[in-house]
Amino acid sequence: MSPLTVHHIGYLVKKIEKAKDAFLSLGFQVEQDTLRDETRKVDICFLCKDGYRIELVSPYAEDSVVSGLMKRYKNSPYHICYETVDFDAAFADLTANGYIAIDTPTPAPALGGRDVVFLSSAVAGMIELIRP
Ligand code: NI
Repeated sequence: MSPLTVHHIGYLVKKIEKAKDAFLSLGFQVEQDTLRDETRKVDICFLCKDGYRIELVSPYAEDSVVSGLMKRYKNSPYHICYETVDFDAAFADLTANGYIAIDTPTPAPALGGRDVVFLSSAVAGMIELIRP
């Protein structure tokens, strides 16, 4: 397996601006302010604290990719994103080891257009893989 490095924790929130303010009060700083991902129909911002990066993700439409998860989880962390120098090899290794791709690698506007893909494991839950 190509070594994986944690890039961020994805955190579902209902109201992104209020959530951002709450995290700022906890000492987080804005790394990238709110951007709209029109493919996934979510608003996203990145915050950092103590070397940890979190991604606030908030659906703005009923048919966003996370609307179903939001109903189930409310405000909650819901994925860990990993980056790796060899995206294609890591993707192949993961899918050969029980991870099911939820979508196909697609550019993420909030990550500078880098490809991301989501995978789900029956034992490890949902992860995201990002192309370097
Ligand atoms: Ni993410």
